[in-house]
Amino acid sequence: MIELIDVSFAYNKNNMVLRNITYTFKEGVLYVLGGKNGSGKTTMGKLMCGLVKTKQGIVKVSGTNIYKKTVGEISEHVGYLYQNPDLQLFAPTVYEELVFPYELNGTLTYEIKERAEKLLQVFKLEDKKDTFPLLMSLGERQRLALATIMMRDTKFIIFDEPTSSIDAECKAMIHEFILSFVENGGGAFIISHDEDFNLNGVNGMNLRMEGGMLYEK
Ligand SMILES: Nc1ncnc2c1ncn2[C@@H]1O[C@H](COP(=O)(O)OP(=O)(O)OP(=O)(O)O)[C@@H](O)[C@H]1O
Ligand SMILES: [Mg+2]
Repeated sequence: MIELIDVSFAYNKNNMVLRNITYTFKEGVLYVLGGKNGSGKTTMGKLMCGLVKTKQGIVKVSGTNIYKKTVGEISEHVGYLYQNPDLQLFAPTVYEELVFPYELNGTLTYEIKERAEKLLQVFKLEDKKDTFPLLMSLGERQRLALATIMMRDTKFIIFDEPTSSIDAECKAMIHEFILSFVENGGGAFIISHDEDFNLNGVNGMNLRMEGGMLYEK
């Protein structure tokens, strides 16, 4: 669960981006946030996982105020997919991108490897296993960034425009993946201009950002 309690935010004094937002995001629900360019959608997503912080109001993840928590600590509870996938790609190969955190901390088990293989299939990257991620197309990089998020076992995932550069076939695949994540009890928060992100029978909520405020559609 992610709770925003009377949260306001400004990058600088003259431009209030979020105004007194109070909202609770629960697991098992798919939230889809729309709104104009520059309305504050990405900013709110980043606040929900501690990538930006504010003293004006409280953000709680799983019941804990995250103000003093590090991004690493929060990331055990909340996954975050950047609008620009290149901000989260570091490894020399696609496969390494998925498994290197587990290699680093010595927890690369058979199960983890299986999960990586499965995600490569789901996101149609099997043939790119040994490719340098930053040499792939934007759609491929976006799919890989999504796969890295899916590797982790977080209860809540924030997707900032996850399919903006992805073709219709893969879009449908990712859509399905997110729906099943929610059906299995995960919480998903999707920022999307895409009306195609219909809720398809899943427990969902359409939200809209306007004038620094959050509305249920
Ligand atoms: N790092 C930053 N420093 C200063 N101002 C910023 C920063 N990031 C965003 N802003 C400003 O904050 C406002 C909200 O930006 P934000 O990126 O949250 O909007 P958005 O709804 O995600 O837009 P888009 O649909 O284009 O992705 C905009 O006016 C933007 O110019
Ligand atoms: Mg944005």
